[in-house]
Amino acid sequence: MKLTIQEKEMAEGKQGNAIKKSMEILVALGEIYGAEKLIDVKSVQIAGVSYDNLGDAGLEFLEELAKDGKTRVLTTLNPAGMDMENYKALGIPEDFAVKQKKVIEAFTKMGVLPTCTCTPYLIGNNPHFGEHIAWSESSAVAYANSVLGAYTNREGGPSALASALTGKTALYGMHLDENREAKIKIKVETEIKGTHIFGALGKVIGEKVKAKPTYITGIKEASIEELKSFSASIATYGGAAIFHMEGITPNKTTIPSEEIIVTQADIGKAIKEMTMDDCEVDFISVGCPHASLNELAKLAELLKGKKVKKEFWVTTARPTKRIADMAGYSKIIEEAGAKFAADTCCVVAPIKGRFKCLATDSAKGCYYAYSKNQSKTKIMPIEKLVEEACK
Ligand code: F3S
Repeated sequence: MKLTIQEKEMAEGKQGNAIKKSMEILVALGEIYGAEKLIDVKSVQIAGVSYDNLGDAGLEFLEELAKDGKTRVLTTLNPAGMDMENYKALGIPEDFAVKQKKVIEAFTKMGVLPTCTCTPYLIGNNPHFGEHIAWSESSAVAYANSVLGAYTNREGGPSALASALTGKTALYGMHLDENREAKIKIKVETEIKGTHIFGALGKVIGEKVKAKPTYITGIKEASIEELKSFSASIATYGGAAIFHMEGITPNKTTIPSEEIIVTQADIGKAIKEMTMDDCEVDFISVGCPHASLNELAKLAELLKGKKVKKEFWVTTARPTKRIADMAGYSKIIEEAGAKFAADTCCVVAPIKGRFKCLATDSAKGCYYAYSKNQSKTKIMPIEKLVEEACK
């Protein structure tokens, strides 16, 4: 891989140890994937923030880089393992909290903004069409490539941090137009409406075509919330980093001739698979990916004057929560007995085994609740979640 004079100096350690280590990661990845050179990136999103996933080895790696590493571009963070302010009310143990705070301190020392959200595009890290970025968090990657028209690979936590500290990434994969072209057409022959149904569609397509870029027809309209749900689901169930939705997403692509049809029966089957029998709901969660202001407004409207009788977490970005505070939504939601879990989510928090049956509107949430947290699941629209919570 060709490096510029400045990049060679970075790789040789002339700009410090953190830059040297970062260049090792980026050059190794570039060589594995046959990149011809490095390119500049405009923003970074780093996943792998929960101490539950990082452990002590991950924390040590971050503290080592934080000795002389400083971000060179706008860099935001994925959810942590706990609400950084309200963790006690959510039952997070103190020894976990101590370690989680150290993780955030190491990132903050490097200049990473402790946004702790998987929807950076809702709180100010919002790249524009055609911009090259280096993001981890599969749902945000699919959203950035497909809905915003930015260019990013599905980075891992260490490679995203390496990009943050150098402002660079290797030119391969999703940074090249030829790899973003649709390979298969998906004709949707049923009405798709609501975040849980968009999530079910992502599961159906992801399982049918895996990570292949798709050209999807038959969707009449899609809100930001529906697109974030779909992005999370297609990335979770298939590993896709990009999709094209006719009349909705902005990227150009040739339209493939191979076609798969999605019917109401496919959507019904996906919903059934995520709605398990013998499952008495004891945990309800809204906000996977993190809830938008619109979703918090709707939730406040639905919960007004009611009382929830089950553990109910609303996961969102802290800046979104602050605006919800100003608008009065938070007060209504909390008076109903639901709890905000800002900075975190029910997948990365250390709650394995604590709940038996999660109800959510998120297909991605169902996947991880079952596979990581050993919880059964039920998927339903937000209106039904509120009914379930108040039963
Ligand atoms: Fe975000 Fe957690 Fe869901 S990181 S996409 S809320 S699993």
